[in-house]
Amino acid sequence: MILFRKAAAASDFLNGRRMSGKSIGFVPTMGALHAGHLSLVEKAKAENNLVVCSIFVNPAQFNDPGDLERYPRPIERDIELLTLAGCDVLLLPSVEDIYPREGLLHLHRYDLGHLEHFLEGRSRPGHFQGVANVVDRLLSIVNPDNLYLGQKDFQQVKVLEWLVAHTGRSTHIVICPILREENGLAMSSRNIRLDASNLEKACIIFQSLQFAAANYQLYAPSELQAICIKHIESIPNASVDYLEFCDTGSFQSVNDWRDAEHIVAVTAVMLSGVRLLDNMLIK
Ligand code: PAF
Repeated sequence: MILFRKAAAASDFLNGRRMSGKSIGFVPTMGALHAGHLSLVEKAKAENNLVVCSIFVNPAQFNDPGDLERYPRPIERDIELLTLAGCDVLLLPSVEDIYPREGLLHLHRYDLGHLEHFLEGRSRPGHFQGVANVVDRLLSIVNPDNLYLGQKDFQQVKVLEWLVAHTGRSTHIVICPILREENGLAMSSRNIRLDASNLEKACIIFQSLQFAAANYQLYAPSELQAICIKHIESIPNASVDYLEFCDTGSFQSVNDWRDAEHIVAVTAVMLSGVRLLDNMLIK
């Protein structure tokens, strides 16, 4: 695996590979890699000549400085995991490289529409602007044929679909399924911060989504929402930030199951101070 700390050097190298006809698959990450990330690398390997991964803890997408500070950064282990997974290129840029000339203070503003202030965007003001800024910059450096994203961050996928479409890129987005722990908890870098007892209890989120998928026709969306929230909040120290049923295309919430052909249940739960996201296609 070749490691680049400078965006310009990575870009030059990748341009050369592209000119010689190699296809490029890109997996952007913030590190603290787990099997979910590695499944994206594996899929990218199967579908491209060259796999590029980036590790960059993006300050622009954290609205809570404490959260940024606490974000795990096990870089040596990440490098080892990516090497073993057969990643070809690792981009490990500095903040100054991604946001030169006080760029963090002058972020581009994207017109993300309702995605910006809805659900995850409502709870984390500025978060999706930060995600759009960094991914736009990373895509300019890597210029991949295929971009690999995890379904776990469903709203982020919608934002990045918007970004790719509105910046005129030809990059194709590949959405990869959520990987889960044995008890059903969606894999996440934040799970490291849960103690053993909370790790066990957190499976209630998956169970509630499964219940929603199996029983949605028996209830109105608002009734089912109340049942699922009550179920999750029966766990001590769990509070549901949102649990919503949305049209997978428009990502608008539905009031009636007939409102959309495909519906996803999305949720964010705070468990002992750790934010856990999950979602499931229910229709
Ligand atoms: O999902 C993530 O890890 C991040 O939001 C991303 C896409 C790498 C942008 O910083």
